[in-house]
Amino acid sequence: MLDNLVLSLSDSLDLIHPSAADHQQRVAYIALRIAKAMGHHPAQQADLMYASVLHDIGLLSVEEKIQSMTMESKDEGRHAEIGCDLLRRFSSFVKASQIVRIHHRSWSDEPRQPETDDIVRVLANMLSLADHVDRAVNRGTGILVQAKAVVEGVSQSAGKEFSPGIVQCFRELAAEESFWLDFASPRIYSVLSGMVQWPRVELDLHAMEEIAKIFCRIVDFRSRFTSTHTAGVAAVARGLAQMMCFSGKGCQQMLVAGYLHDLGKVAVPNAILNKPGKLDPEEFDIIRAHTYHTYHILSTIGGFEEIAIWAAFHHERLDGKGYPFHVRGEDIPLGSRIMCVADVFTAVTENRPYRKGTGRNETLPILQNMARSGALDDHIVRVLAENYDEIDGMRSDVQEISASEYSDFVSKKTGAIPSPVASRA
Ligand SMILES: [Fe+2]
Ligand SMILES: [Fe+2]
Ligand SMILES: [Fe+2]
Repeated sequence: MLDNLVLSLSDSLDLIHPSAADHQQRVAYIALRIAKAMGHHPAQQADLMYASVLHDIGLLSVEEKIQSMTMESKDEGRHAEIGCDLLRRFSSFVKASQIVRIHHRSWSDEPRQPETDDIVRVLANMLSLADHVDRAVNRGTGILVQAKAVVEGVSQSAGKEFSPGIVQCFRELAAEESFWLDFASPRIYSVLSGMVQWPRVELDLHAMEEIAKIFCRIVDFRSRFTSTHTAGVAAVARGLAQMMCFSGKGCQQMLVAGYLHDLGKVAVPNAILNKPGKLDPEEFDIIRAHTYHTYHILSTIGGFEEIAIWAAFHHERLDGKGYPFHVRGEDIPLGSRIMCVADVFTAVTENRPYRKGTGRNETLPILQNMARSGALDDHIVRVLAENYDEIDGMRSDVQEISASEYSDFVSKKTGAIPSPVASRA
């Protein structure tokens, strides 16, 4: 179901730090309560929920997200534009993307974009008010003691930051203790699921691919060193699955698992991802947790049981010395073994700003040694060796497209290119 998928994926974006835990879902709760109370159509509520739970999707690094929670960030327009650009590519998110684009615009600002329709402007203002509330709340203190001051703060912005009608509706809702207790509840995911009143959309695999691709871009575009890595792994994993006679559906699932395999990396600060040289033990601990997060985010999505395992076991080894689950041998399914090979193959063959990717004569010995030492599945490495040029072509074609998407992205995010230093695979 689309709602379930979107809510779970939004969890991944809020994993980063206690100051931002559940931020997007808390914002969605307030925005949706207002939209319901003001009688908005269920389809508009659905657009508002998708926009709310993904509103900060354009803040790619942990550092940017923490900063956005603690102070008014100077680039608010920019992350909103990037978020809109990421979301608009999926047809069910087109309206949500328009809402995200203006979620930091004041109510009193003249609309700069003539195409912004009134409903989008109203829904975006609900999101904006909800975002303001969650940032104003102190997470270290009880919610009810601060509710009055938060409501007063919002009320002072009526007619300026926020629409007077929306502020009035918020004041009425905020008079109930249960409004605040739900907002601050650790069960916010189920509170939100229970608020869905629109027809549930069941996704086909093609739609899942489209959504997974949005998250592939989020993981990749955080760092220029690995800006096409996930896209490459996904293409290689699907290619290997085809050669190993997976069904059409199995191959598509492998592509989705590839797009999502490093999802847990959104919780790793860029300072660690891009650190030149060796990581210290604490930093490596943070890296080692990324596939644990991938597993737990994906396994909450109905129908993703297999995809979660294929995606999240990509740092496990057949001899049980991988991480973080230390599964071994037969307990690592074929799909996961393919992902392990695809990940290593892509990491060594792709070009990085600081080095050229390896060719066939260097790549195959690396993979064969890893198979001999008990890391990778020997049979899959042989399949790859037999079809080397075809698989490598799939990787480089996809990564070429991703590289040009990444340069478009960088031009939107002017000045955000990190300096060329070594980074993690
Ligand atoms: Fe924002
Ligand atoms: Fe936000
Ligand atoms: Fe990984």
